Amino acid sequence: DINIFRFAKKNIPLPLDSNFADKPMNIEKEMLPKHLAIIMDGNGRWAKQQGKQRIFGHEKGAKIVREIIQEASQLGIPYLTLYAFSTENWNRPKLEVEALMHLLSRYLQKEVAIMQKNNIRLNAIGDLESLPSKVRKELYKAMEQTKDNTSTTVSLALAYGGQQELLQMTQQLARKVQQGLLTPEQITPQEIQKALYTQEIPPVDLLIRTSGECRISNFLLWQIAYAELYFTDVLWPDFTPEQLHKALLNYQNRERRFGKTSEQL
Ligand code: FPP
Repeated sequence: DINIFRFAKKNIPLPLDSNFADKPMNIEKEMLPKHLAIIMDGNGRWAKQQGKQRIFGHEKGAKIVREIIQEASQLGIPYLTLYAFSTENWNRPKLEVEALMHLLSRYLQKEVAIMQKNNIRLNAIGDLESLPSKVRKELYKAMEQTKDNTSTTVSLALAYGGQQELLQMTQQLARKVQQGLLTPEQITPQEIQKALYTQEIPPVDLLIRTSGECRISNFLLWQIAYAELYFTDVLWPDFTPEQLHKALLNYQNRERRFGKTSEQL
């Protein structure tokens, strides 16, 4: 039985055949990301592989969302942000957008009870005003009901775009300057942070993207400045808690230097 941290601490490559992914006890609690962000990709391809409609993949994807939220909270990850719907996703076929919105609304109705049980707080980031009013209402209700929960804050990125977020931040700060509430010199990274959707949420430590695509797709552009990036070929509907463990172990095996040298750490 190998102890992963013997390898991690000495930077020795892991034995290739080690079946470590399903051993969460090897994950070091102190070295968990504070903020984990995930681009959940590959639902459509997964459905196609099964000979099914794309929405079938989104439905399985929603089940995985539930499992991963639960696992993240059990492991003790304080912030989890999930890319559920981008500003660009409005351009998908109308039927698919409608089906996704319907799925989201059903999910929110069902999920609150589970979130309450697991002490999970629901948050949302994005242009929420652009969502159908039914979804928006469910969302605000779920956020209100879970607002005092303290284990994991789950932020659903909905109608979210990183450039749009930076644009609204810029406009917000420009308005403050115009009103004489702020001088240009008082615009600090902290002021910028406060004007983002993520406000009090710490920067992303680990960003996971499933389904083999190696791009950021307009997700959390400011917040990922020093994030570790993890790309996996696994499609989102196949991303089990074991896959999450594998990503976390990989993350814990990296040296985060934040611009410094190894010796300075
Ligand atoms: C990417 O797969 C996934 C999405 C655009 C939507 C993500 C939605 C879910 C995981 C389910 C609903 C979410 C919640 C929170 C209940 P894709 O359709 O782009 O897949 P493809 O690249 O294979 O076509």
